[in-house]
Amino acid sequence: MRLSASLLCIYFYALLSSGTSSSGDDRRWLVVLVDLVELDYVDHCEQRATATWNELIGGNKGLSTKLERDKAFGIFSKHQTTEVRKGLSGYTLAANDDVLKRKVKLLLQPGDTLLEPEQWIKLVTFGNTALHRIRFATDYDCGNNRSCTLRELQSSLARQQDEETLISMKKSWEQNLPDMTEYLEQILPLLRNASKENEHESVEDYWNFLVEYEGALLKARELWDNIKPLYIKLHKYVSLRLKGSDAVGNPLPVHLLKSLNGDDWSNIIESLLPQHPAIYQKVQANLQLKDLGGINAFKAAFNLIEELKLGELEADLWTDSIFNSTCPPVLLDWCKPNKVRIVSCKDVSLVNYVDAHEAAMKMKYKEIAAVHSNNTYILREAPRYSATFEAIPGFISLLALNPHALNRSGLFPLDVFSYNANHHRLVLQLITALQDLPKLNFYLAADEWRLKVLMGLIPYSKIPSSWSEFRKEFSLLETSDIDLLGDPYILFNKPFIGKFMGLILKYQIYHSFADELISDEHDLVNHVSENNERISNTMMQGFGRPWPEMISELLATRENGLEFTGLTDYYRLLDDYLDRQLDPPKESSDDYIEPVTEPSPEENEIIEISREKTEATIKDETHEDLLENVIDTGIDDLLAKFGAETSTVGVLEIKNPVHSGDQSKDVKEASYNTYWWIGIAVVLAIIVILIAIIARKRHNHRKQLERQRRDNTHA
Ligand SMILES: *[C@@H]1O[C@H](CO)[C@@H](O)[C@H](O)[C@H]1NC(C)=O
Ligand SMILES: *[C@@H]1O[C@H](CO)[C@@H](O)[C@H](O)[C@H]1NC(C)=O
Ligand SMILES: *[C@@H]1O[C@H](CO)[C@@H](O)[C@H](O)[C@H]1NC(C)=O
Repeated sequence: MRLSASLLCIYFYALLSSGTSSSGDDRRWLVVLVDLVELDYVDHCEQRATATWNELIGGNKGLSTKLERDKAFGIFSKHQTTEVRKGLSGYTLAANDDVLKRKVKLLLQPGDTLLEPEQWIKLVTFGNTALHRIRFATDYDCGNNRSCTLRELQSSLARQQDEETLISMKKSWEQNLPDMTEYLEQILPLLRNASKENEHESVEDYWNFLVEYEGALLKARELWDNIKPLYIKLHKYVSLRLKGSDAVGNPLPVHLLKSLNGDDWSNIIESLLPQHPAIYQKVQANLQLKDLGGINAFKAAFNLIEELKLGELEADLWTDSIFNSTCPPVLLDWCKPNKVRIVSCKDVSLVNYVDAHEAAMKMKYKEIAAVHSNNTYILREAPRYSATFEAIPGFISLLALNPHALNRSGLFPLDVFSYNANHHRLVLQLITALQDLPKLNFYLAADEWRLKVLMGLIPYSKIPSSWSEFRKEFSLLETSDIDLLGDPYILFNKPFIGKFMGLILKYQIYHSFADELISDEHDLVNHVSENNERISNTMMQGFGRPWPEMISELLATRENGLEFTGLTDYYRLLDDYLDRQLDPPKESSDDYIEPVTEPSPEENEIIEISREKTEATIKDETHEDLLENVIDTGIDDLLAKFGAETSTVGVLEIKNPVHSGDQSKDVKEASYNTYWWIGIAVVLAIIVILIAIIARKRHNHRKQLERQRRDNTHA
C-alpha cells in the first residue's frame, strides 16, 4: 500500500518536472526514488523492531509476529532492488556524486535478502525459531537435576566446581540447539545462493564484499598468525593452572573453561590470577557492593561516555529497556533517532560490566550516526559489517578498566594502583585477554570452517563431526560438534569477519591514543575526551563511506590498514608474565611491593561483605565444597596477616592447586651445603623481621581502635 503510494508520488513528480528529460531531471528523479525507498525501509524497520521486542520480552505470539515481519522484510527488500535498478536505467551517476552513488550501491546489493523468497523464509525461520528456543527454554540443568532458565544456567556455570555437573550443564544446553543436519543441508548452503544473487564467485568473495575490506579473510589469517603465539601461551598457562604441566599443549575441554563453546574463558579467572590479585579482588568486591549489574552497569557506562564528552544519556532508555533478561545485552533499534532499547541481565560480574560499556557505546554510536543530517536510513543501517562499529564501542569497554576510570567509578583507588602499577596492569590485561583472545579465535574458526564445508574440502561423511575436529586443530579446544549453533551469527549465516577486524582495530585505537600520552601514569580517559573528534567524526559518517577509508583518520596516523601490533603491544606485560610462568627463571623476580598503608576500615568492611556474599552464594552449592573452602579461607587469613592484602577469592579457589612444576631439579650436589646454610640464615632473618612487623602493626592497630573508640564516645 505504502509502496504504491510512493510510486504514485514519483509519477506525479515526473509529470510536474518538465517533459524534456535532461540529465538534471534524471538525477532529481533518482533522488526522490531513493528517498521514498528509504522511507519504506524505515517503516519496515519500525515494525520489525516492535515485533522483535515483543518476542524478546516473551510476549504472546511474539515469535509468530516476528517471523511474519522478517519474512515480509526479505521480500520487500528484494523488490526494492528491482525498483531502484529500474529507476537507474539509462542514467549514469556523475563521478563526483558520492553520497547518491553510495546509497544506490547499498540499495542494489543488500546481501542475503536477495535470496529467492522461499529460501529467505527458510533462513529466518530457522534462525528465529532456534534463538527463541534457546532464550526461553526452562529445562536447562543447573546441577543436582534442578531445571532452570538460560540466565540461571549462565550464572551457575560460572560458579560450578564439579566437573561432572559442568558436563551435564553443557549437555542440557546442547539439547536446546537446533538440528545440525538441517543446518548443514538446508541453511549453510544458502550462503552459496546468496553469493550468486549478489554476483560473487565464492562465499569468501561475498564475505569480503560484505565487510568492505579487500581480501578480508586473507588479511585475517595473516593477522591471526601473528597473534596466535600469544593465544597459545595463554592456552598453555590455562592448562598448566587447571590440569598441571602434563596437560600443557593438549586440547582443553571447554567445560573446564566453564564455557559452553569456548569463546570466552573469563569464568576461570580466579584459577589464573597471579600471586597478588588485589586489584581483581577489590574491583570484584566493589562491583558487588555497589551492585553494578543490569541498569547500574549501563549508568556507569554512560557516565564514562559523558566523561569522554561523547554525549549524554537518554532518560527514556532506562524506563523502556529491560534488565532482568539474559546476557549478553541485545540492542534493539527502531531506526529513528533516540529509539534504541536494550534487553540485558541484572547479574553483577566483571564481564557484564565490560559488556554493558560496549553495548552502551553501540547505542551512542547509532544515535550519533542518526542525528547527523546526511545519514538517511541506508547510510545508518547498511547491510554491511563494519569493523569501526565493533571497534569504537570495544575501545570504550577497554577504557572502562583504565586505572583512572576505575578510580572515578570508585572501583579501585588510583594511589593504590600507582604503587604496583605494572602488576595491576598485568591483572587487568589478564581480565581482557580471557575475553578477547578466545573470541578472536572463535570468530576466525567459525568463518574458516564454514568456508571449508561450503568449498567441499571436507568429505561428506565427515562433515557432521568436523567442527569439533577443526576446533581441536585450530583452537586447541575440545568442543562438541554442534555448539556453534548457539550463536546468532551462525544461525543467520552472517560472517564473523567484521567482528574479528573490529577486535583488532579496537587495540589499534587504544594504541593510537595511549601512544600520545607523555607517560603511562597520565589520564588516558581525559586525553581521549580532549581529542575525541576523530572518534566522533568516524561515528557521524555512519556507513556513508566504507569503514577502511576512515581508518587513518580514526587513528590519526598514515596507516590505513589493520595491524596486529596494537593488540600485541597492549598485552606486552601479560606476554612476559606468561613466558615466566611457562618457563620459570632460576631466580624468582617478584617485584611486587607490599603496600605500606593498611587497608582503611571501610575497605576491610567491603572485603568482608563481599566475602559473606560469595560464601552465601557458595552455600547453594554442595556442602562438601563449602567445608574445604572454609579451610582454604583460614589459611588465606593467616597468609593475609603477612601480606596486608586480604583475599576474597579464597573461597572460590580450585580444589587441587597445581604446583608450578619442576623447580630446583638441577641444583648441584657440591653447592648443596652452602645453599642450605644461607637458606637457614635468610629464613631466620625473615622470621625475626616478620615478628617485629606484626607486633608493630598489632600495636598500631590497637592504638587506632582506641583512638576511634575515644572519638566515638566524644561525638
Ligand atoms: C540454491 O539455489 C538452487 C538453484 O536455484 C536451488 O536448487 C537450491 O535448492 C538452493 N539451495 C538451498 C539450500 O535452498
Ligand atoms: C522483568 O521485569 C518486568 C518489569 O520491569 C516484569 O514485568 C517481569 O515480570 C520481569 N521478568 C522476570 C523474568 O523477572
Ligand atoms: C550533508 O548535508 C549538508 C546539508 O544538510 C550538505 O550541505 C552537505 O553537502 C552534505 N554532505 C555531503 C557529503 O553530501
